[in-house]
Amino acid sequence: MKNQNDKIVVVSLGGSLIVPEKIDTEFIKNFKKVIEEQIANNFRFVIVTGGGKTARNYIEAATKVGEIDNEEKDWLGIHATRMNAHFIKAVFKCCAHPRINKNPRTKEDLSKHFANGEKIMVVAGWRPGWSTDYVATILAERFGAKKLINLSNITYLYNKDPNKFSDAQKIEKISWKDFRKIVGDKWDPGMSAPFDPIASKLAQKNNLEVAIIGGGNLNNFKKYLAGEKFEGSVIK
Ligand code: UTP
Repeated sequence: MKNQNDKIVVVSLGGSLIVPEKIDTEFIKNFKKVIEEQIANNFRFVIVTGGGKTARNYIEAATKVGEIDNEEKDWLGIHATRMNAHFIKAVFKCCAHPRINKNPRTKEDLSKHFANGEKIMVVAGWRPGWSTDYVATILAERFGAKKLINLSNITYLYNKDPNKFSDAQKIEKISWKDFRKIVGDKWDPGMSAPFDPIASKLAQKNNLEVAIIGGGNLNNFKKYLAGEKFEGSVIK
């Protein structure tokens, strides 16, 4: 029997796309159009929103003014993700469940977010110690999703920082074992890893496929969903 969760796609939507400097209305318009097209293709989405510049601005400002510990920094980030989640829910009023999930491990049956014909569940950050990538990975586990899309300002993985090294090479496919050697095991508030180390550990355990796709060209998002060749990287 076909699993009814087959067409639920978990998207870790980088805050760097929602608020790169200020809110990117053009990106949100494009994203909304693409999501609505895919809903027409029978997909349903779990969209986990990052904190973006709003998170980093608050963390930076607090650090300049007070003695802020890591947990407090993460909470500032979490509130930025909640602001962005509410914003995404508001623009997807057509099809999103009205409540935002703030705890991916809640005991509630998460399918109730889709129970009244909704097509989108919106999710914010949860607790200090990781990023929204981890929240998205937990939800992929709970919905039995095999694939997760990490949509951010990163178009490809590289073997080293392409901004620093002119000989950096694109990685189109990498195993979790090799990826985790690059990304390490440690979490830092406001960290900007292609996929966070804590999330990577769980994703590896669950054999999850994560596609790293840049938000600049959403055709790649469509192609990945259609199972076509796309520009981006796959961790598996
Ligand atoms: P993210 O790191 O997930 O968002 O959350 P981002 O800035 O959008 O990431 P990218 O780079 O564009 O993908 C922002 C901050 O919120 C805190 C962390 O400090 C994180 O850096 N956070 C978020 C948590 O502490 N726990 C959560 O569950 C989620």
